[in-house]
Amino acid sequence: MFIIKLDAIDSTNSYLRASANVSLPKDFTVVWSDLQTEGRGQMGTQWQSQGGKNLTFSVFKRNTNFNIEERFVISMLVSLAIYNCLRTFQIPKLKIKWPNDILAEEHKICGILIENIIKNNALAGSVIGIGLNVNQRFFDDLPRASSMYSLTGKLFDRDEVLTALIGSLKQQFEAVDNKTFKGIKKEYESHLFRFKKPSTFRALNGETITGIIKGVTQDGQLRLLLEDDKIEIFDFKELTLLY
Ligand code: BTN
Repeated sequence: MFIIKLDAIDSTNSYLRASANVSLPKDFTVVWSDLQTEGRGQMGTQWQSQGGKNLTFSVFKRNTNFNIEERFVISMLVSLAIYNCLRTFQIPKLKIKWPNDILAEEHKICGILIENIIKNNALAGSVIGIGLNVNQRFFDDLPRASSMYSLTGKLFDRDEVLTALIGSLKQQFEAVDNKTFKGIKKEYESHLFRFKKPSTFRALNGETITGIIKGVTQDGQLRLLLEDDKIEIFDFKELTLLY
């Protein structure tokens, strides 16, 4: 594996994006930093992670399979790769929270930020940013966060976990030719947090919505069966699933 190990950086995603703008990194180039000073989360949020305890890294995946409209497949493959990998470390009660948070015992242990690189109007590759809480013990301001250590009482070797995660990502992307979109979606949905259960969401205007998660669309939107028995489709910017 081609890995760039840094002590500190603003954000590994920003680092890889900047280098991809100069020339496309090799497939599966990994940038791992012990500390991120400006770790970024989805929708402009910050990613907080104690330095030296966790994994905060980004992987460059060159694109050979997908056009830009199919980008949600990449997101599902990454979620499935992390889910499958964490199972091998016996992390309990794993779920994927739409669109791509990884929960264990209903606590977030991993966040994913995928940034696609477009060149000449085509999807050239994706910067897959992964923040996995490994050995951190305390999450003072984040009551819904947890770590592999907190869930199992065991300390993990971060190099070993990183190698396993990259292996799992490679496996998912290599197997994609033998899979259909329907098959990938089915597998993804089977691990979805609150799938087919009545769930509460906060909409952009602050209102609360209750509905049953019926699945996802090709674009990664959520299909919700609402109280009036109609299925509505929501973009991930429009809804926050409340636990
Ligand atoms: C989220 O759940 O909001 C996504 C969090 C993604 C965090 C990772 S840590 C490594 C990479 N670099 C970043 O700045 N963010 C991603």
